[in-house]
Amino acid sequence: MIEKINNLLKRVEEFKPNVTTEVEEFRIKILGKKGELTQLMDEFKTIAPELKRELGQKINELKNFTQNRINEMKEEVEAAKQGNESAIDDMTRPGSNDKLGSRHPISIVKNEIIEIFARLGYTVADGPEIEDDWHVFSALNFPPEHPARDMQDTFFVEKNPDILLRTHTSSIQVRTMETQKPPIRVICPGRVFRNEAISYRAHCIFHQIEGLYIDENVSFADMKQSILYFAKECFGDASKIRLRPSYFPFTEPSAEVDVSCNLCNGKGCNVCKGTGWLEIMGCGMVDPNVLEASGIDSKKYSGFAFGMGVERIAMLKFGVKDLRLYFENDVRFLQQFDSSL
Ligand code: PHE
Repeated sequence: MIEKINNLLKRVEEFKPNVTTEVEEFRIKILGKKGELTQLMDEFKTIAPELKRELGQKINELKNFTQNRINEMKEEVEAAKQGNESAIDDMTRPGSNDKLGSRHPISIVKNEIIEIFARLGYTVADGPEIEDDWHVFSALNFPPEHPARDMQDTFFVEKNPDILLRTHTSSIQVRTMETQKPPIRVICPGRVFRNEAISYRAHCIFHQIEGLYIDENVSFADMKQSILYFAKECFGDASKIRLRPSYFPFTEPSAEVDVSCNLCNGKGCNVCKGTGWLEIMGCGMVDPNVLEASGIDSKKYSGFAFGMGVERIAMLKFGVKDLRLYFENDVRFLQQFDSSL
């Protein structure tokens, strides 16, 4: 009998089921009404009383061990099954559709503008968002009492009024002029900050792209032609531009650039407010004071600069009427613009 007990113990120890049904079959075979262990226990009733103590203990141990082992086996088989399900079980099943993000409309337009100017030989220049008075105002010929220095427009760092958030990316142009020798041809994309009330047409954070071209004999006609090229590339080949006199401390003469409304082809609609023209940027010939402030000889060199708001260009291109949508980041809005999806 002891042999039978040891034999059965060994078989329970060595049994390795693959699926739950195998465990159940095994349980019935050993512990069921007619199972091998049940039969052993019947046999046990008939053995000599002096052997009962020792064998009874062994049979009990075997029974407990078998029951525990079967419970463990069930859990093991279950765990293995779950592991397999997460692995690739069917190689022919179509892959799950991973949701791709889309490029933000501001990035799309920014990249497009950069590409247009890259074709004219402009390279991208970068600079810090937290700036000092010199690079944002003083080097750009802003007189000390200029209203743009007022708290209303500029975010100053309170403890040090010399440190502020740049209100335009012209600060990058100053940094470029300070470190590079002409000829200079750069565009300066970046975030700018102005202390303005948020509305459908203004935000305290927005994006600008400014450009600077400095060389010998650069003329107003060069500027006009470069901007016309940009307008045609950005708004379509039929686009026309017109320049209106304007004022910026850092350019002289200065102008505002309008592009012919591409929605009504200049006839007048509610987007161009009946005028047939849309304002897209400011520009002008770099003031000699600005060149000199950055160490460039204004007798030898001249140049032009221009600057535009990326949100504004994007609104005009996409027909978006509320600038705030660009900042709310509702994916239903954002996903409409990325044609690569
Ligand atoms: N810096 C001007 C602005 O922020 C734009 C500009 C740049 C105008 C260059 C003229 C020349 O409004």
